[in-house]
Amino acid sequence: MKFDKLKFSIKTYGCQMNELDTEIMAGTLKNMGFSEALGYDDADIVVLNTCAVRHRAEEKIFGHIGALKRYKEKKSGMILVIAGCLAQQKKDEIFKLFPHIDIIIGTLTKKELQPLIEKILHKRKSQIRIISEQKEVYEPDYIERESKIKASVSIMEGCNNFCSYCIVPYVRGREISRRKENIIKEINNLAENGYNEILLLGQNVNSYIDNSYDFADLIESINDIAGIERIRFMTSHPKDISNKLIEKISTSKKACEHFHFPLQSGSDKILDKMNRKYTLNEYINKVEYIRKLIPGVSITTDIIVGFPDEDENDFQDTVKAVENIKFDGVFIFYYSPRQGTHAASFDDNVTYAEKIRRLEYLLRTQEKIMVNINTGLIDQKFEVLVEGRSKKDEEQLTGRTRTNKIVIFSKKENMQNKDLAGQFINIKITNIGAYTLLGEISE
Ligand code: SAH
Ligand code: SF4
Ligand code: F3S
Repeated sequence: MKFDKLKFSIKTYGCQMNELDTEIMAGTLKNMGFSEALGYDDADIVVLNTCAVRHRAEEKIFGHIGALKRYKEKKSGMILVIAGCLAQQKKDEIFKLFPHIDIIIGTLTKKELQPLIEKILHKRKSQIRIISEQKEVYEPDYIERESKIKASVSIMEGCNNFCSYCIVPYVRGREISRRKENIIKEINNLAENGYNEILLLGQNVNSYIDNSYDFADLIESINDIAGIERIRFMTSHPKDISNKLIEKISTSKKACEHFHFPLQSGSDKILDKMNRKYTLNEYINKVEYIRKLIPGVSITTDIIVGFPDEDENDFQDTVKAVENIKFDGVFIFYYSPRQGTHAASFDDNVTYAEKIRRLEYLLRTQEKIMVNINTGLIDQKFEVLVEGRSKKDEEQLTGRTRTNKIVIFSKKENMQNKDLAGQFINIKITNIGAYTLLGEISE
């Protein structure tokens, strides 16, 4: 087997952090001389980058890990790697259940990918490498990015909040912020390579700190980088977002008018059991301040329905909160207990059928709200960063507004041969749905 002829395939589950980790691992493998495979049949190395946040993700991934056995039987020497959050959490279980797996690499040991693969290729024993603490964010040599237009940049890793339902602090470790010089260097580099938009990533970006240099300072520094036109950031924990930070974002030209601001529940009783450390009123006050300072801002959120002891009144409090706040988008999840979290010791006393009923009810409520909000956008003009062809209709283009809304539109007759990806274009909204806006190019 000639190593530089090897091909790899990576499948990603989970959130933007995992997508970025996949780009980092793909960069490592490319740097080792490997190339990307078309599919598993064609691959010598298969990596599953896993997520543990909800039960359904875990179920799907376990099924997928089992299915990999068949591919390995067909191709001896195939290297199977399980990476990411579920690998970090269930390392022992995975090795026991699936002896066909060669490498388990947690979230905190991405830099071990190269040495472990080399060991296996040189016929040394396969190994597991999981450590639970890290002192610095790993700085990879090379990141193989999906997009040429927008890039995710990690600013901090881990989480110290321990919301009672959440596995993330257990699988991503304690909060550590990346050194500001490294962040700025990476973004300067991205700007030189033509990137227009960056997404600053952290479980809780508000708590970024490098000595006394904080998230607001970071926004200010990036605002001065020529070439970068849009700065996005997620996630903002409601307990940590300060008025000072909102003010800074409102005056930064490049910081986009969009906050992903997870509420989780509209009931103070449930928020307390979730260990979220704010009340609905405190949350609403922050939303009002954001909307006052940043006109036209869009606010999206996450909601969990069916948390232990959530009764009909608590659920109706959430419905009312969603109706009153009028989010631009809501990601709704039904609660599933995660092993090792505090909430896993609570009685999971809302039935599955009832969880699904609440989820669907809230989804329908939210869809009406989005149709209403979007109807108000008809005839307005927005600056859209073109991302490329629409997946649904190859003839159409797709892009996003600064407020992170997806817009679908056609090229003009005289533009047929131009590649507009990466360009900023003014679009007038002509029609809407709950999840997308349709528009036409306006001069
Ligand atoms: N750091 C981010 C995202 C964490 S995970 C934040 O603080 O918001 C993304 C979302 O998954 C959470 O906001 C929550 O709504 C949902 N989630 C997390 N654990 C869950 C669980 N055990 N059951 C159902 N949904 C969950
Ligand atoms: Fe999970 Fe809460 Fe941390 Fe978000 S803030 S990652 S929900 S523990
Ligand atoms: Fe993300 Fe899932 Fe891990 S949501 S942080 S990939 S548990």
